[in-house]
Amino acid sequence: MFSMNLYELIKRKRDRGRLTRGEIQDLVAGYVKGDVPDYQMAAWLMAVHFRGMNADETTALTMAMMDSGRVFDLSGLDVPKIDKHSTGGVGDKVSLILGPLVAACGVAVPMVSGRGLGHTGGTLDKLESIPGFRTNLRFKEFYQNLDEVGLSIMGQTRELCPADRKLYALRDVTATVDSPALIAASIMSKKLAEGIDGLVLDVKTGIGAFMSRTPQARRLARAMIRIGAKMGKKVVALVTGMWEPLGQAVGNAVEVVEAIEALKGNWRMDLEEVTMALGEEMLVLSGRAHSFAQARRLLMRALTQGKALDKFGQMVKAQGGDSKVVDDYSLLPQARHTIEVKAGSTGYVRTIDALHVGLLSVELGAGRKKVRARIDRSVGFVFKKKVGDRVGQGDVMVEVLASNAKQGAEVAARLSEHVVLSKSPPRNGGRVIARLTKV
Ligand code: URA
Repeated sequence: MFSMNLYELIKRKRDRGRLTRGEIQDLVAGYVKGDVPDYQMAAWLMAVHFRGMNADETTALTMAMMDSGRVFDLSGLDVPKIDKHSTGGVGDKVSLILGPLVAACGVAVPMVSGRGLGHTGGTLDKLESIPGFRTNLRFKEFYQNLDEVGLSIMGQTRELCPADRKLYALRDVTATVDSPALIAASIMSKKLAEGIDGLVLDVKTGIGAFMSRTPQARRLARAMIRIGAKMGKKVVALVTGMWEPLGQAVGNAVEVVEAIEALKGNWRMDLEEVTMALGEEMLVLSGRAHSFAQARRLLMRALTQGKALDKFGQMVKAQGGDSKVVDDYSLLPQARHTIEVKAGSTGYVRTIDALHVGLLSVELGAGRKKVRARIDRSVGFVFKKKVGDRVGQGDVMVEVLASNAKQGAEVAARLSEHVVLSKSPPRNGGRVIARLTKV
C-alpha cells in the first residue's frame, strides 16, 4: 500500500502539487520506520528541491520531523535555555566557541548540531576529532551535562529527531541540501525538540552559503522565525556573510584547534565579529543582559578570565573526551603532509571562494561523498592570509593538510585558482549584514 502512495506523492510534488499535513506525517514516519526506501525519499527530496514547499507544508514537515522522536523537557533547569544554529558555512566553528562562552555567562546552551552537509562542515564531525568525544547522548546525560556544565552538544539520535538524522545524511549526498524548506524544517525540528526558550540563527549568505543571495537568506530566516513563533519560541536571525571561509581553518581537527585558540583570545577579526554578535543576541534574548553593550562586557569577561575555555574543557570531559586537548593539540588527528600554496605575485587577497574551498575540503576527505563514508579528521586547510591581507610574492597563503601527498598537491594546485589577488586593497565590509526578528 505504501509504495503506491509514495509514487503518487513524488509525482505530485514533481508536478508542483501540494501535500497535506497527513501525507507529510506519513511520509516522514514511514521513512524513519524503514517503510520508505532511500531511493524514493531521495526522489521526493529532489522534487521538493525544484518545486519548493509553501509555509503550511514546511511547518508540517518540521512538526513531523520533530515528532519523529522525543521532545526534551528542560523545564526543570532553573536558567534560561538559549541555542544558536547556523545554516551552514565553510570554516564555521562558531558553535565550538560560542557554546562555552555563553554558558560561562550563566545561560544553558542545549545544542543539537549536525554533521558536514554538502560543501559545509559540521560541528559534530569537528568535535569527534577529540579522542573519546561522544555526540550520541541520551536525554538523561544531555540534561545532566546542561545542569552541571551549562552546555551540551549532541547530534540527532534514534531518540531525538531521528527523521532529521536520516534525512540529513541522505540530503548530504544527493545534492538536495540547498532547499529553503528542507533547511528550515531540518533546523527548526531539532531546535524545537531540544527544549529551548529561545534561538539565535546565523543565516549565511554569499557564495559559500546554501542561500547564496541575501534576499534568499532573508526569506529563509523569516521562514524559520515564522515556525518558531508558531511554537511560542523567541527567534532572532542574523544574516552573515559567507564569501570567504570564516577564520583561518577549514576541516575538522584543525577547526577544533582554531576554536580553542579563540577561547584563549587568539582569533581572526571575522570569527570574533560573528561569534560576538551572536553571543550578544543570545545573552539579550535570555535576559542575562539588558543591552548589547552589557552583553559584550559579560562575554569579554568570560573570555579574558578563562571561564569560557574552562567550560569547553568541562564539556569535553563530560562527553567522554580527552580534555587535555585544550593544552596539547598533538592529541588530535595529525595530517601526514603539509603542502604550501604560495603567492605568485605581490598584492592583496581580493577573494577566497568559500564554495570551492568547501568542495576541495570534501575532496581531501574532510566531508562525505556517500552516506556511510568515513571522513578523515586530520585533513583541511589553514589560511595564512585572508581577504584584505597584503601578500608578498612567495608568501605562504594557505597550508593544505593532507593524508596523501599526491592528492594534497592536486588539491593545492586547484585551491590556488580560488584565492585571487589584486593590486590594491579590496573593500572589506563587516560580516553581519542584517538582523531579523519578525516574519
Ligand atoms: N543545518 C541543519 O541542521 N540543516 C540544514 O539543512 C542546514 C544546516
